[in-house]
Amino acid sequence: MPALVLNNISKRYGDVQALDGINLQIQDGEFCVIVGPSGSGKTTLLNIIAGFTKPDDGEVTVDGKPYNQLSPRDRNIGMVFQDIGLFSHLTVRKNISFGLEIKKSSKKDIDKRVEEIADRLKIRKLLDKKVRLLSGGEAQRVAIGRTLITNPSFFLFDEPLGNLDANLRVEMLTEIKRLHLHLKKTFIYVTHDQEQALSAASRVMIMKDGKALQKGPPREIYNNPIGKFVAEFFGVPSMNLIDGTIIPEEDGSLFQGAGLNVKVKGYSQSKKAEVTLGVRPTDVVVGNQITEDGFGTINSLELLGDKNQIYLTLEQEKSIIAVTSPEVRPELEERVKIKLKENRIFLFDRDQGGRLYP
Ligand SMILES: Nc1ncnc2c1ncn2[C@@H]1O[C@H](COP(=O)(O)OP(=O)(O)OP(=O)(O)O)[C@@H](O)[C@H]1O
Ligand SMILES: [Mg+2]
Repeated sequence: MPALVLNNISKRYGDVQALDGINLQIQDGEFCVIVGPSGSGKTTLLNIIAGFTKPDDGEVTVDGKPYNQLSPRDRNIGMVFQDIGLFSHLTVRKNISFGLEIKKSSKKDIDKRVEEIADRLKIRKLLDKKVRLLSGGEAQRVAIGRTLITNPSFFLFDEPLGNLDANLRVEMLTEIKRLHLHLKKTFIYVTHDQEQALSAASRVMIMKDGKALQKGPPREIYNNPIGKFVAEFFGVPSMNLIDGTIIPEEDGSLFQGAGLNVKVKGYSQSKKAEVTLGVRPTDVVVGNQITEDGFGTINSLELLGDKNQIYLTLEQEKSIIAVTSPEVRPELEERVKIKLKENRIFLFDRDQGGRLYP
């Protein structure tokens, strides 16, 4: 039986449908990541799971028991908020111990527990410092500590947007992954960082406009996006999307767009159609020894050590990215041949965004 079940959760604020029929089943001990653009409903969903917000419709159940009527305190859920929300005028120690003090534990027990947690989060030296004097990363650790102290069975993390710089985010995620391994509890983690999601999650849910567009292991979503939005949103750098026309041929179809002529053998249909072709940057081959689908001009080159990231301009000023091995080193402004790996091409409906092929 899944540990946490979200059954058809909806929530409306005035004109905004913040959540629109979300279903999700989370297994005990799973690390589930939620990603989606700003305003897609991620925080609203976490608040509903934690009990801070009531859904208009739908039900949260834990171990088969309905949760809707339980107050946040009775839910055994720890949430680290997007705005962190610590008591800034109090010390780190006070902030962490707060959850046990309201449960009337003894001072000795509380001190012992606070110190254990501070050691684990490497903030022991900060215990008597006021929270308002901490850096963003330190404050994040304190927020996690405050959650750990009540020993919840579920952890909800809403990653702060602007507060953490990129390096710190990676460090915090490593910390949170370690915590997950150690505690073996269920984690639901909202992030704005695609690479993080890919590296941490056993499962990902992608949200847009209050809906769950796709759920699954990150690799599966990456290799098998259901439509244009997920294809472009999930993966770094983003999938290249090229608008064009698909033309029926005897053995499959021909895609024409931005000066490319790409044979799509597996796709046959009876008439011409306006489509968008998708191809991951790692599936764009650049070089002069290849049979080309078309040409591009190099407008920028990033040598990243283990790979090169090449920015190309096609006809109609269309920009695409190729990620190649480090040996591929074209000159700036050079005109090069491009080939798209044949079995790695996607076709999407131009307007609706649904996947047409494969
Ligand atoms: N208390 C509220 N009152 C009115 N509208 C709200 C409220 N909370 C959320 N919303 C609206 O619901 C939608 C979803 O908001 P939510 O905060 O869940 O998005 P999010 O995915 O967490 O975005 P972000 O990535 O920016 O944190 C937004 O349009 C937001 O303006
Ligand atoms: Mg949010």
